[in-house]
Amino acid sequence: MRQYLLTALLALTLAGTAQNRQETTLGTWDFSRDGQSWQQVRVPHDWAIEGPFDKKWDIQYVAIAQDGQDKAVEHTGRSGALPWIGEGHYRTTFTVPATAKHTEIYFDGAMSEPVVYVNGREAGRWAYGYNAFRLDITPLLKKGTNEVRVHLNNLQESSRWYPGAGLYRPVKLVFTGDTRIDPWDTFFRTLSIDGGKAVLRVDTRMAGYDARQKLQTAVLLQDADGKVVASAKATPDSEGAGTMQLTVEQPLLWSPESPYRYTLVTRVMRGKKIIDQTSQKVGIRTIAVSREHGFQLNGVSRKFQGVCLHHDLGPLGAAVDRDAIIRQIRLMKDMGADAIRTSHNMPSQMQMEVCDSMGMMVMAESFDAWKDPKVENGYNRFYDEWWRKDLSNLIRGHRNHPSIVMWSIGNEIPEQWKKEGAERARAMTDYCHSLDPTRPVTCGVDNPNGGTESGFYASTDVPGFNYRTFLYDELIGRMPQGFILGSETTSTVSSRGVYKFPVEEKKMATYDDGQCSSYDVECCSWSNLPDVDLEAQDDKPYTIGQFIWTGIDYLGEPTPYYSYWPSRSSYFGAADLAGLPKDRYYLYRAQWNKRSHTLHLLPHWTWPGREGQTTPVYCYTDYPEAELFVNGKSQGRRKADKSSHLDRYRLRWNDVVYEPGELRVVAYDAEGNVAEERRVHTAGEPAKLEVELEEETLGENTRLYYYVVSMKDKDGNLCPDADDEITFDVKGGAVFRAVCNGDATSLESFTKPTMKLFHGQLVLTVEVVKPMEGFEVKANAAKRGITGTAMIDYASAPI
Ligand code: GAL
Repeated sequence: MRQYLLTALLALTLAGTAQNRQETTLGTWDFSRDGQSWQQVRVPHDWAIEGPFDKKWDIQYVAIAQDGQDKAVEHTGRSGALPWIGEGHYRTTFTVPATAKHTEIYFDGAMSEPVVYVNGREAGRWAYGYNAFRLDITPLLKKGTNEVRVHLNNLQESSRWYPGAGLYRPVKLVFTGDTRIDPWDTFFRTLSIDGGKAVLRVDTRMAGYDARQKLQTAVLLQDADGKVVASAKATPDSEGAGTMQLTVEQPLLWSPESPYRYTLVTRVMRGKKIIDQTSQKVGIRTIAVSREHGFQLNGVSRKFQGVCLHHDLGPLGAAVDRDAIIRQIRLMKDMGADAIRTSHNMPSQMQMEVCDSMGMMVMAESFDAWKDPKVENGYNRFYDEWWRKDLSNLIRGHRNHPSIVMWSIGNEIPEQWKKEGAERARAMTDYCHSLDPTRPVTCGVDNPNGGTESGFYASTDVPGFNYRTFLYDELIGRMPQGFILGSETTSTVSSRGVYKFPVEEKKMATYDDGQCSSYDVECCSWSNLPDVDLEAQDDKPYTIGQFIWTGIDYLGEPTPYYSYWPSRSSYFGAADLAGLPKDRYYLYRAQWNKRSHTLHLLPHWTWPGREGQTTPVYCYTDYPEAELFVNGKSQGRRKADKSSHLDRYRLRWNDVVYEPGELRVVAYDAEGNVAEERRVHTAGEPAKLEVELEEETLGENTRLYYYVVSMKDKDGNLCPDADDEITFDVKGGAVFRAVCNGDATSLESFTKPTMKLFHGQLVLTVEVVKPMEGFEVKANAAKRGITGTAMIDYASAPI
């Protein structure tokens, strides 16, 4: 209850900007599944994430054509095995400030098919659950208390992954005067950066404009210290629109490495009086794609080191949360990723703000299907009527984010090989250009031959290949653009802490335990191991980078375990669903992270019963050479070897015979000097439970604290087989929020304070509710009588 009060208070704090403009976030709502019994919830809210997990919720009898299935089979867990299908109702109340003449309600996304009622009358509706939309509710308002209700409906077989359910992104009210700036018609762009000077253009439009009012539009650009570095004024045209040009000397440019942001203040003025004002963060940077230079940011060619990410936040579900997004982006940046593809739908504003501020480029995607269906009740039902409206809201709502460098109009669109598909792609690309001529448009294509023949590729700016690196050389000559993007690559599968023997390269391998091997040698029938994509990016000058499938595991799509129960989340991530890096994370880190070295060994070295058996050891490192020792005995020195695809990015000792003790790797630099070493020890009996705060995710106003809970032996070695049931107790100014162990086959709820360790670890999320108090976190492995504790005292809390 305390939580709700706090949120309600925060939500009621009107963020006044200027004059008549006021914004309020609608954070406290009543929610009901049946329209009869109601409970109070906080929005963003995902009604399904509490579970329980059950295959009955979303079982599908289908043939997944994209995965090569030609007969319908039972699919369990395909969309998460959580109760997201069906209806949901939300209601809340608000009052309108006396000064407001015009009121709009903004939804950043509502899952799905939202119908909005204000004071009992329909205010409007949207079809696609992933898109932002806004409604003018001025005519429906009355004095005093007003009520807004939202009805949502999720049809079965409407998704290939877990979509979440409910008001999972923020809802806000914007009150203004009659004449107002339209933020979706404010468009900031960098025209050029040359000779230490940036030339910028700002387009604006006033809504409710009346030429008799003698108004002017003004823009100011402030640096991070608030100093005005450029300003301009315009007299609007008869529609209220104005275009201004600004020049900034010695601009600080936005890039993933240095995400500098300015503040753009836009004003409507009558003489000296400010009638309306908005402000938003922007970045100065240029982007370009060309045959000669590939993709360029600020005039410098670079290849995307990208990750595809679905929108869920693991145990928090689809409900967006700034702190959880910050944690994801930090994790991906540490791996060396510089770009995200928001597969396969519109991102949240919150995610884009974090990408802007932390420095992460974004390919903002829109659809997983157009008119031809992939699932029975997918976007195909809406395509004809809605695609323009959907692209318009995506682009107008997001085009001022410096992080967005490309729009994607779709993923593996079934009609990619047909003439109609190419025509649709052309119409959609043209439409994107009309709303934003500064960014190239792409689409992920999984039938490159078909996409080449049909003219589909030629209809977009960036030919996106999903997988199929083996076609790159054959088709590059037929790409009018002269370059290829690996819009989706790899689809290698693994489970953290799981190693299968013998170690063999396999496609679609399945095992009795529902897990995949972390030797990183197993992938899908349509995909390949990471090494193949890394090689294509390194060796083929015409590639402009890749987006791996996926950076982090997500709910749903437990390929290759289509019908295996229980299995309800993906195995594709470089990090697991809890956000713990798998071994594969370090394979990428070694290649992508140029800021710090990587020296990672696998597997763990606690194998009771494997004594005397061959147990290959891999090292993922950026060092050119390393030597492995088992209990002090050298297993030989290894160098990256380009002649074998698995030995180029991994140093492998395939014949190591297991004996308990110490595994040690010594890395050498290019001159042959010892540079660094790593040791892994055989773990003894579980002796302590470590509750370790992920300090690097903390910042100003952090509410979510993430703890990695690990079972260790008395010497601090991870016990990789520990699967103890842990219970949590959080006391003081914080509450238990969620827990996740990254096990795709676990049916334990994320929202109850108890869960088994998976391979010795799990991640606990705690939420600060009283920032002025400290708190204590206790993790208890009752059966062994082992307890771990972590404390935050007020003085050290960075809040
Ligand atoms: C791709 C698809 C993704 C995901 C992936 C799994 O073809 O675009 O959404 O399904 O396969 O490998």
